[in-house]
Amino acid sequence: MKGQRYVLANFKMNKNTGEIKKWADQILQLLYKRHEKIRVRIGVAPSFPHILTAKSLFYGTDIMVGAQNMYYEEKGAFTGEVSVSQLKDIGVDFVIIGHSERRKIFKEDNELIEKKLISAIRYGIIPVLCIGETLEEREKGLTEKVIDEQLKAVEKIPDEMTEIDLVIAYEPVWAIGTGIPAKPDHIAEVINKIKNKLKNKFPKISVLYGGSIDENVAKEIRHVCDGGLVGSSSLDAQKFFKIAENFQT
Ligand code: 13P
Repeated sequence: MKGQRYVLANFKMNKNTGEIKKWADQILQLLYKRHEKIRVRIGVAPSFPHILTAKSLFYGTDIMVGAQNMYYEEKGAFTGEVSVSQLKDIGVDFVIIGHSERRKIFKEDNELIEKKLISAIRYGIIPVLCIGETLEEREKGLTEKVIDEQLKAVEKIPDEMTEIDLVIAYEPVWAIGTGIPAKPDHIAEVINKIKNKLKNKFPKISVLYGGSIDENVAKEIRHVCDGGLVGSSSLDAQKFFKIAENFQT
């Protein structure tokens, strides 16, 4: 058993309904123009108000639709939050958990992220757990330590849940939105460590890379990871599609 290859678009807080329709149209046209099936699973995570629109635009296709966040409780007095069961209700396929922007701006800690991770798994939504070190941590030689700490959430997943599709996105914070992707050697080293640590417990684990991915980066790193989580380059459908094609092995 092996993890699948994924190329996922994280739109962050971008795009309105019209722009999403145009993006979906372009992606579908590019898909239909191909002679053979693309060998990666493509997904898109728009903002909450556009998830249902994206679901209907991609209805009947293999394109996955995800959310960028969730709350772990099923329901209750949590003003402004969207629950895991509400995401399940509208057919969300995957959910990004612990993105560095949520860790930093919204002060999410490993304890909260662990609860979200386990809750997503219980509801059968593929979790895309984001981990990665800051520049300061990297410069202090703390990359491995930080990642080990962030992966404790995964180690706490109960044994009866380990047959799931588990997606980890290694996104070094210093590479996000900077135009400076991590070097392939660095990505390979970190991703191998993550896989060696987790592959026995999670046979269907996929480890993606994220941080300033463009089409060249995708080509360069396709053999060292199982795909990518793409931010700014995903906003342009043509660029995103090229990235997805270049991640095929
Ligand atoms: P960029 O591709 O814009 O660097 O963003 C990466 C990211 O944060 C994906 O989750």
